[in-house]
Amino acid sequence: MLVLGIETSCDETAAAVLKDGSHLLSSIIFDQNNIHSKYGGVVPELAGRSHVETIHHVVQDALNEAGVSLNEIDLIAVTKGPGLIASLLVGLNTAKALAYALDKPLIGINHLEGHLLAIFLQEAVEFPFIALTVSGGHTDLYRVDGFGTYKKLGRTRDDAAGESFDKVAKMLKLGYPGGPAIEKTARQGDSSAYSFPRAFLEKGSLDFSFSGLKTSVRNVIAKRERGQGPVLSDGDICAGFQEAVIDVLSAKLVLACEQEGLNRVVVTGGVAANGALRERVVHVGEKNGIKAWFPKPVFCTDNAAMIACAGYYKCRDSILPVKNSLDLDASASLKLGL
Ligand code: KG4
Ligand code: ZN
Repeated sequence: MLVLGIETSCDETAAAVLKDGSHLLSSIIFDQNNIHSKYGGVVPELAGRSHVETIHHVVQDALNEAGVSLNEIDLIAVTKGPGLIASLLVGLNTAKALAYALDKPLIGINHLEGHLLAIFLQEAVEFPFIALTVSGGHTDLYRVDGFGTYKKLGRTRDDAAGESFDKVAKMLKLGYPGGPAIEKTARQGDSSAYSFPRAFLEKGSLDFSFSGLKTSVRNVIAKRERGQGPVLSDGDICAGFQEAVIDVLSAKLVLACEQEGLNRVVVTGGVAANGALRERVVHVGEKNGIKAWFPKPVFCTDNAAMIACAGYYKCRDSILPVKNSLDLDASASLKLGL
């Protein structure tokens, strides 16, 4: 079965061709970093316009690289939300037009479900497991019992982890996206030079909060500019900030495993590309008898292979009605899990 995946929820224009759920024939990702970096974050209007200009080339490149024609595609899977509405609509309308013109079945995929299932591009992890989705828009903990069966255990009450990376990078003028820039700068610093606050919230809570940490970084930078407080390099600030985020994420993962009586975790979403987070999760996992899986970094950040993968499994297991309907709609605030 050949699935064409299309993803345009934020600032990556992506298309992929996936065979039988795990054999990836192509994955094209066109990022818009050069458009947004000077603003320190995604400008929705510019993102939408860039998707319009790029989507057809990206889809064509994905088909060419896979060596298949549109007629050979069995299913089109497209992100229907959550995300920026102007961005989502470009991918969704492209997918609808292709499905209508070629009379192919079409399936709308929740972007978060794409992140959750990205690991299946590499390995069929046994259910149930705990999944931590850490991206620019979300920081959620799920119990995953099967394809389409997700129980939300925790979420951020304010900023997403990736958002806090992006905001701290903006404060330090490190460019966008902030995550990779912070990770790189942190390697030149000392994480113990300054201890930033960690919000563990109420005892037993699996929720997150990163806005206090962000404010603390802002205050430290302001003090540094006034020549007050400890002498800190950008590297020290990035390392201390990153360490605080990783402490909380890894501790809550272990807590979720304890509460649910599980010993398998999948960490996914853009922030899961962070090498220091991956190392720490493996380390605390080993100490607590927990095995951890991570998609390859290129499948952690936004891509269409994960959307094709989720489409394949939902179609295979008849979880979603598959039809070539034109009433599929985008939803900026689509939720996942109970
Ligand atoms: O999953 P994603 O590509 O898009 C959303 O669905 O939001 O995640 C993007 C987020 C951005 O906030 C970016 O700064 C962060 O993931 N990110 C990272 C790293 N690479 C991307 N954060 C920390 N370390 C990284 N290496
Ligand atoms: Zn994402």
